[in-house]
Amino acid sequence: MPSDDPLDRIQLPRWRDQVQRTSGWGGVLLCDPAHFDVVDEKNTFMAGQIGRIDRRLARHQWQGLVDTYRRLDVAVHILPGEQDLEDMVFCANGVTVLPRVDGGADVVPSHMNHPSRQAEVQVVTHWLAQHGLDVVELPADCGHLEGHGDVAVIPGRRLALGGYGGRSELSALQALSRCCDHPIVPLAMVGSPFYHLDTCLAVLDEDTVLVHASAFLGEALETLGVLFPRVIEADPEEAELHLAVNVHALASGAVLHPAQATRTARRLADAGYEAVPVDVSEFHRSGGSVFCMRLDVPELPLAPREP
Ligand code: ARG
Repeated sequence: MPSDDPLDRIQLPRWRDQVQRTSGWGGVLLCDPAHFDVVDEKNTFMAGQIGRIDRRLARHQWQGLVDTYRRLDVAVHILPGEQDLEDMVFCANGVTVLPRVDGGADVVPSHMNHPSRQAEVQVVTHWLAQHGLDVVELPADCGHLEGHGDVAVIPGRRLALGGYGGRSELSALQALSRCCDHPIVPLAMVGSPFYHLDTCLAVLDEDTVLVHASAFLGEALETLGVLFPRVIEADPEEAELHLAVNVHALASGAVLHPAQATRTARRLADAGYEAVPVDVSEFHRSGGSVFCMRLDVPELPLAPREP
């Protein structure tokens, strides 16, 4: 019987010959931090941080991230924040955006673990749909999926990596893959404190990943070695203390990284990347950094009106 898992059509060592190319990203979406806060403890980074956010500093740091993207010629779209959605600033989690070969993308609303975060999903999805992207719903009973917290797209290619064992479930990654007919390589993770794939892995380009190796289980590291000729290890202490792996790589070779992760930045620079530090330490108190504070989006069919 032919399998319905798109991954079965690929032999991993030869994926470059077998996986289609997609056009690059058109920009990033960021969510205004007006309502950002820590009101509970969803991950270990949040322990002891309730009520400790300096709102003015958070806004200043967020604006620094926006300015950095603009300086690097990346189009920035801004989603307004909403009252009581204190985690929506991590707008990479509410949806998965999978680029298609025709230049469009499928937007798949997440199935979040926490009810407060579930309310964000409709807001982000609505914004993307309003700007012309297609929405594909997962089956209601497929399990939890937290968007690009756990799904890392290989830039320019129709192949993604999916982490499970933290917030997202293998069943949901498989459902995502089938719904969008998009191959996703599953990677088993240890879980807490590395509760999302983006706390322990970043795809820098189609040949390179940045990882925190001890966060993976089973064959995950071996699989990464088969997929990528270059595996860069983050400084382990920085991965744990400063979210060093939560970086955002641009097609230009620039990698925006948490400013505190200086040893990891050196490794990136030694590998030929332009390491661009961004200080978003107030957001680390909530367990997120650069990567989860922005969502890669394709060219939007219906351009947003810039303020
Ligand atoms: N407080 C948020 C949560 O625990 C942080 C999410 C950060 N996102 C990330 N992908 N690491 O859900």
